[in-house]
Amino acid sequence: MIRFVTSCFFRPTVLQLIRVEQATVGMFVHELCGPWIKHPFWRPRFPINSELDLERLRSTAIEYLWIDTSKGVDAVPPEQESQPAKAAQAPAPAAASLSQPTPLPQELARAAQICARAGRVLQSMFSDVRLGRPIELDNANRMVQQMHASIQRNPHALISLARIKSADNYTYLHSMAVCTLMMALAQRMQMNENEVRQAGLAGLLHDVGKCRIPLRILNKPGALTQEEWRIMQDHSLLGAQLLRPLDVPEPVLNACLQHHERMDGTGYPGRLKGEQIHQLSRMTAICDIYDAVTSDRPYKKGWPPAQALHRMAQWCGDHLDKAIFEQFVQTVGIYPVGSLVRLSTEQLAVVIDVTSQNLLCPLVRVFYCIPSGQHLAPAEMDLQQSEVRITSREDPQDWPLGGINALWQPCAERT
Ligand SMILES: [Fe+2]
Repeated sequence: MIRFVTSCFFRPTVLQLIRVEQATVGMFVHELCGPWIKHPFWRPRFPINSELDLERLRSTAIEYLWIDTSKGVDAVPPEQESQPAKAAQAPAPAAASLSQPTPLPQELARAAQICARAGRVLQSMFSDVRLGRPIELDNANRMVQQMHASIQRNPHALISLARIKSADNYTYLHSMAVCTLMMALAQRMQMNENEVRQAGLAGLLHDVGKCRIPLRILNKPGALTQEEWRIMQDHSLLGAQLLRPLDVPEPVLNACLQHHERMDGTGYPGRLKGEQIHQLSRMTAICDIYDAVTSDRPYKKGWPPAQALHRMAQWCGDHLDKAIFEQFVQTVGIYPVGSLVRLSTEQLAVVIDVTSQNLLCPLVRVFYCIPSGQHLAPAEMDLQQSEVRITSREDPQDWPLGGINALWQPCAERT
């Protein structure tokens, strides 16, 4: 989990959610997750200056904490953690275990760190390109590799976290979200590892041409004029120009150039039709639209994920490739993680995990009784093991619920 609290152009203040066992001396604690009574620290924010601080922290019932990486050291990725003490007690895990299937709650914490790192790398990459510096492909490929490992473990963790972004970091976090969706989709389509990573790179770089669009247009909160819209449309050509001199695979370059083409030939810049549009570009179009319509922007609230899929299904054939869209729905689930649903018991629940065996019966957390209008103690229910059914998808804005993110992700009150 990542949260940009304030930002300036060169140094954003970034909060990172970590497990307590990942805490190290040199980190700056921004907040401990949990009731204050569960820990002995009287200050809400403090540096970890010594092993003693660390020991006190680990002796609490707190499981997660937010660190401020602009004031202290960053968390070491779990993949890179060197743990000699543990190694002495148990054999080192095989490399393959880094991609072993992992339940969503465990993967969420790991994916949060990957999101944090990827956000920083992307912000720096986009800033560099805007300043006329070349794209660091090695950094992009490394990031894709880490995100790929998370998606192999559980695609829903990174997909659901990457959907959450704020207004000031939209452009590059959108690229990260599309990268995530692309790799999960490519994996679902049984592409080989190399193709899955190409798909990720395509998602990461598809909008890189926006770095050549004036900020007054790119960040304009209201509707664009006709002239501004024409300039904005140049981003796909500009992106392809930026990538052409680099060692970028041809399908990735095509995705950058063609991701706004539409199946009926009404897209841009080439007004290509159907299979004239490269397969990776048709995939990018779907992932790009899904993330755009489900994201909150300054001028509009994002659509709930299940509603977005429903509406996008109506654009198949004309705009989107129907066969790829069907695979996409299988990837994110008919009711993606974080969706608010009404149950046949007249209760509201939020989807907390999806299994591919039966997309209509996800794991949910029930928390609200509709007839009484009362919040309930949250309780998990596996709809695959129950007679209870989802009767409709719901828009959280239509209910007096406050945020529902806290019901499916740890410490989500910040999002
Ligand atoms: Fe675009």
